[in-house]
Amino acid sequence: MIQKTNINGKPLSRLAFGCMQFGGEANVNDATEMFQAAYNAGITHFDCAHLYNDGAAERILGTLVQPHLDHISLATKIGYHGAEPERLRQEFELSRKRLGVDCIDLLYLHKFDPVVPLAAQIDVLMEFQAKGWVADFGLSNFAAWQVMKTQSLGLPVAAVQPMYSLVKRQAEVEILPMCASEGIACFGYSPLASGLLTGKYTTPNGSGRLTSDKRYAARYNRSEIHEAAQNLCLLASQMDQLPGTLAVAWVACGPYSVRPIVSGRTANQIAPSLAALSLKLTDEDYGRLSGIFPFSEVATDRIEEM
Ligand SMILES: NC(=O)c1ccc[n+]([C@@H]2O[C@H](COP(=O)([O-])OP(=O)(O)OC[C@H]3O[C@@H](n4cnc5c(N)ncnc54)[C@H](OP(=O)(O)O)[C@@H]3O)[C@@H](O)[C@H]2O)c1
Repeated sequence: MIQKTNINGKPLSRLAFGCMQFGGEANVNDATEMFQAAYNAGITHFDCAHLYNDGAAERILGTLVQPHLDHISLATKIGYHGAEPERLRQEFELSRKRLGVDCIDLLYLHKFDPVVPLAAQIDVLMEFQAKGWVADFGLSNFAAWQVMKTQSLGLPVAAVQPMYSLVKRQAEVEILPMCASEGIACFGYSPLASGLLTGKYTTPNGSGRLTSDKRYAARYNRSEIHEAAQNLCLLASQMDQLPGTLAVAWVACGPYSVRPIVSGRTANQIAPSLAALSLKLTDEDYGRLSGIFPFSEVATDRIEEM
């Protein structure tokens, strides 16, 4: 099946922009400059969440996007701390207000809630759509079986959002083949492995999320991951590119049409990621980059017979 190339009928750019830093590490000025840089580079999909910076991210994005709503698609996510119907209703209503839109182009469940019955969650989401408040639905941080179960219970799934980068390739096992099979769009978050793949932590003074936030340090706390970042830097100097540009281009140029969600604190920071929009990797270069970190295990055995 052909994968979706639009959200709410608005064509998708090869990269999406993530607003998780808006109103947090990025103040309003930095957020405005990043929004403009991403927009001028041709990005037409902006990703946010109810959770980000206590609503500041949605409020800032909502202001910036108003003149462009006819061709930019907006995504937000609800249900991070649980998907009880009343919580979903409250979060959704507040997110819609903050973003200043009647209809959210793409509404995600932020993660799988194993406690609240899926049917009850789906009823609420379908109620939003019936009222014209949501165009398309997405699921983030869901396993492939959870996506298929949700779809089989009646939610039309337009998009998924897994973590995906050169050093986090779990999605290749089940999620990306599922997207290709079911025509689901895939937005990959943390394409720079939260900054690691810029190469900055290969130097003694490198600082950022991995030094300031224990959760991120733990997420990438394996020697092979840090070695992969070093090897990426070596390849980048041979290819006369910045490591961050290659890392984002690798996600965008893979066989499964994943759209990397790029982001940062400042317009200067995001320039190398935006440069990936115009970088087409040859098959050989894609293969060399893939070689810096092993492909995840396949989902089934006896693949030698297939
Ligand atoms: N669905 C989910 O659960 C989920 C989770 C995470 C993110 N997301 C979405 O995905 C988007 C992107 O995620 P992400 O921020 O983790 O992406 P990422 O591209 O892996 O990391 C971006 C971070 O890397 C660092 N960085 C970027 N460019 C740099 C440069 N040139 N030099 C040095 N450092 C640089 C910055 O952090 P420091 O300056 O702090 O190092 C920046 O905030 C988010 O905005 C959000 O929309 C979704």
